[in-house]
Amino acid sequence: MSFYVTTPIYYVNAAPHLGHAYTTIAADVMARHHRQRGEEVFFLTGTDEHGEPVADAAHALGIPPQELADRNAERFKALAPQLGATNDFFIRTTDPQHEAVVQDVLSRVRENGFVYEGTYEGWYCPRCADFKADSEIDAGNRCPIHHIELTREQEDNYFFRLSAFQERLERLYVEREDFVAPRTRYNEALSFIRSGLRDVPLTRHKLTWGVPVPWDAEHVFYVWFDALLNYYSALSYAPAPSSVPAGEDLTSRLWPASYHLIAKDILRFHAVYWPALLMAAEIELPEHIFVHGYLLMEGEKMSKSLGNVLDPFAVIERFGADALRFYLLRDVPFGQDGSVSTSAFELRYESELANELGNLASRTIGMLMRYREGAVSGGELDPMLEKDFSGLRESVCSHIDRAELTLALDEIWQRVRRLNRYVEEQAPWRLAKEPGRGEDLDRVLRTLAEALRAVTVLLWPYLPTSAEKLLAALGAPDLSLEGAELGAGRIARAETIDSLFPKDLQAAGS
Ligand code: MSP
Repeated sequence: MSFYVTTPIYYVNAAPHLGHAYTTIAADVMARHHRQRGEEVFFLTGTDEHGEPVADAAHALGIPPQELADRNAERFKALAPQLGATNDFFIRTTDPQHEAVVQDVLSRVRENGFVYEGTYEGWYCPRCADFKADSEIDAGNRCPIHHIELTREQEDNYFFRLSAFQERLERLYVEREDFVAPRTRYNEALSFIRSGLRDVPLTRHKLTWGVPVPWDAEHVFYVWFDALLNYYSALSYAPAPSSVPAGEDLTSRLWPASYHLIAKDILRFHAVYWPALLMAAEIELPEHIFVHGYLLMEGEKMSKSLGNVLDPFAVIERFGADALRFYLLRDVPFGQDGSVSTSAFELRYESELANELGNLASRTIGMLMRYREGAVSGGELDPMLEKDFSGLRESVCSHIDRAELTLALDEIWQRVRRLNRYVEEQAPWRLAKEPGRGEDLDRVLRTLAEALRAVTVLLWPYLPTSAEKLLAALGAPDLSLEGAELGAGRIARAETIDSLFPKDLQAAGS
């Protein structure tokens, strides 16, 4: 089995913000989960470096676009490990190997008869790098996303014959209802297709910052076609991840992509242009596109250009990457828009990470130390708890298979809460005082330790650093998903650990 997940490649016109971190974190959760299943996993992220968004920003700063790209690509590259993201490769669209694949694939599209010369006239948003139909613009000819005034473009271009794929795309959506999720986004893409597809520019004449068109030196490729092809080109030159035997061809092993994660701002490019382009080039289509919502601050989509940015680096510095990962996937249902704020963040941190999971871990280990010097006895587990945990692993897997990352986390969290209730119900401190209840105490403690271990294995994709610490303290570092089932005898001895989620955040390292 292979699993290939991607994030959008981010524009290097400015520094990364929390919105970018969000998609990268989500993709990482999926990648880690599939690695736990023992699959061959490839997780790709990177930067989109051509086109007006970057050329204009560089111009404004008075520096060459490549210099701006180099500077900001480094910041995006550095963000991934700070988030705990385990991407297997970081692609930059200025990589010469990527550019060669773009030229090769798009020449094939032309040879297949889907490219012709024409003149484009219409509205254009240089921030979106998007040609906007009249029906898609706000009053005053403004971009509905960036609120800037659109430019009126007239340009001789080569066009991509998108209209030729009208029927095939409609059929694709009918035959593969899970091609785009959630359902609202599927409907949106399908109705866009059904409203009638118009051909789109494939090249730009006015711009020089792009991949040169091999058959006409005066043109560069339109940035979106260059950018979309990153998902395919990366496999032709990325080093093999450790799960794939060295020397194997990654494209034949991993293509088509399992999941493209995106936000709804770039739905049309991914859900319409991208499959049409692949059809035109005779390349297999990806399996799923999952469209998450926007992180909102004060009701507006967070974005660099709007200036309402919450700095992920600052958040991580204060709370740690695990807390950020948890908060974003817990508080904002994955697939829907959601507001984020420092106060909501602190509330989740304190009430759930510190008070629920942190306390469960310290109570469980604390009681094992106090009553049994850390030793976990062998024997049966409490059948009542076994019942409450049965089916958990399957249910988490099936949610993650559908990119329902918040629902999966919720299933897991219900068991964290169940375990805290179990502690209250069983009151091990009382059993410890009652003569003749030693065996009962042993059973409660080993059930707690074992269930905590299983839940922690499932939490690992969301909270990798804390989960690894906790599993190490339980003397059971195995992360494979098989270990997410309750089983007796997996833990022999526990050791004390420092608080996983200290409440005194000053002490946590700010
Ligand atoms: N370069 C294009 C994508 C090309 S993919 C072939 C681009 N770049 S971007 O820098 O603008 O990044 C957009 C993506 O960043 C969104 O689709 C989403 O994944 C993420 N997000 C940016 N802001 C976000 C929010 N406020 N909320 C949620 N996701 C956000 O578009």
